[in-house]
Amino acid sequence: MNYENILIERENGIAVITINRPTKLNALNKATIEELHAAFKAENEEASTKVIIVTGSGEKAFVAGADISEFASFSVEQGSQLAANGQELLFDFVQNLSTPVIAAVNGFALGGGLELAMAAHFRVASDNAKMGLPEVTLGVIPGYGGTQRLPQLVGKGRAMEMIMTAGMIDAPAALNYGLVNHVVAQAELLDFAKGIAAKIAKNSSVAIAKAIKVINDNYVDGVNGFQSEIRAFGESFGTEDFREGTTAFLEKRKAEFPGK
Ligand code: COA
Repeated sequence: MNYENILIERENGIAVITINRPTKLNALNKATIEELHAAFKAENEEASTKVIIVTGSGEKAFVAGADISEFASFSVEQGSQLAANGQELLFDFVQNLSTPVIAAVNGFALGGGLELAMAAHFRVASDNAKMGLPEVTLGVIPGYGGTQRLPQLVGKGRAMEMIMTAGMIDAPAALNYGLVNHVVAQAELLDFAKGIAAKIAKNSSVAIAKAIKVINDNYVDGVNGFQSEIRAFGESFGTEDFREGTTAFLEKRKAEFPGK
């Protein structure tokens, strides 16, 4: 598929998806959300892709939010549909992907931008990054999962304050809040994220997919994560990766996981 709003590079099992609308600070319009869905789906189905990094083009923004010009005249029904479609196509989709997703937050991550970063499995940020959910300044609330994922990541009180004030926090504050795992200089951000991705790529992709699912189960209503863990732990024993991992350990060599 040819993309107009995103770029994709693949190297050593790591796919980098770059949102590429720099003149609009990479704001997420409908077309970009659809392209991102297609790209995440394709990479998830590509056995050679072990980790996906999502970032923004340019030095200023990761993503400055949903594209305000697209929804300014929406009705109640269209607004509900916008949130539902976006959550299904991109935000829930990324959270539940079996391939690990790292957000490399290289500047402003506002509104839908921060929501996309929060849907990723974890985040690293450049030292110039600024994060916030400014929706209430527009008379709306976060609609791509922000009211749910922000409190999960930073705690209810901090999330309440960030959403009510619509303020931005800088990278050191985001690190302090646990919203991002690491902060590095902007020029080093992508290599730093790739370094973490390379460590992940060496491990069993089957086991990692199970771990993502079970960790996410903690946040699903009516699902007991401990029971999910027991089930997925047991299933691991039936995989080729488990046989290879344990055999390699006992033979004192590095495992070469088949990913099955
Ligand atoms: N939707 C649509 N366009 C956006 C956008 C968004 N969320 N964020 C930025 N842009 C566009 C601007 O309209 C501008 O386009 P133009 O040059 O055609 O006028 C371009 O991106 C550059 O943005 P600009 O505002 O000129 O940059 P800045 O450095 O002065 O300010 C921000 C940067 C991020 C503080 C500012 O762009 C902003 O507040 N954006 C909206 C953030 C937001 O509310 N997001 C939540 C949406 S739900």
